[in-house]
Amino acid sequence: MAAILCIVVLLLAPFLSQAADPDPLLDFCVADLNASPSFANFPCKPTTNVTFEDFFFDGLMKEGNTSNLFGVGVSQGNVLTFPALNMLGLSMNRVDLAPNGLNPPHSHPRATESGVVINGKILVGFVTTGNVFYSKVLNPGQMFVIPRGLVHFQKNVGEKKAVIITAFNSQNPGAVILPTTLFGAQPSIPDHVLAQTFQIDSSVVHGIESKFGSPIY
Ligand code: GLV
Ligand code: MN
Repeated sequence: MAAILCIVVLLLAPFLSQAADPDPLLDFCVADLNASPSFANFPCKPTTNVTFEDFFFDGLMKEGNTSNLFGVGVSQGNVLTFPALNMLGLSMNRVDLAPNGLNPPHSHPRATESGVVINGKILVGFVTTGNVFYSKVLNPGQMFVIPRGLVHFQKNVGEKKAVIITAFNSQNPGAVILPTTLFGAQPSIPDHVLAQTFQIDSSVVHGIESKFGSPIY
């Protein structure tokens, strides 16, 4: 029995490791956001209630608010803001960066990200699981890709406001934003854990925590 179980797990392993959003079973399934999701897909709104408006989204038209600690505004077009993306396995963001603004180191547990610079001069970087740092300064029209789950950032290194459009192979990629995850979690990670992790004094931990009480985006 144990041997059979082992064989089944070994046969399934490649498929499990390549898991992404599931393929759609219908032309569309505009999410009914009031219903509870099952396995991260929302039930479909009845087709008779679907209109052309459901398939269009204005949320990336406007400049994001960059008046925050990092000078970044991220507008998200995912299943929660644009319900027609339900079951279609993709989403997009608009990232606005003030001069010197930083989209701080973060990762997306459920998606690979690609992006294109629309305006400005952007330093894009990511770090592999082998601790290798890859980075480049990009100008308008240039694209980048961040493999799924890897920590990455974008920084405006130009003189003017910058805009990037990013795309993900998930309807809901999720974002683990390192500064807020580590220093702004509720309830907070014990100080002694953070002090030991970064080999710093608890007073320094408190100082950092005081800056990350509320979400950045
Ligand atoms: C950029 O990194 C983004 O997550 O949109
Ligand atoms: Mn990202």
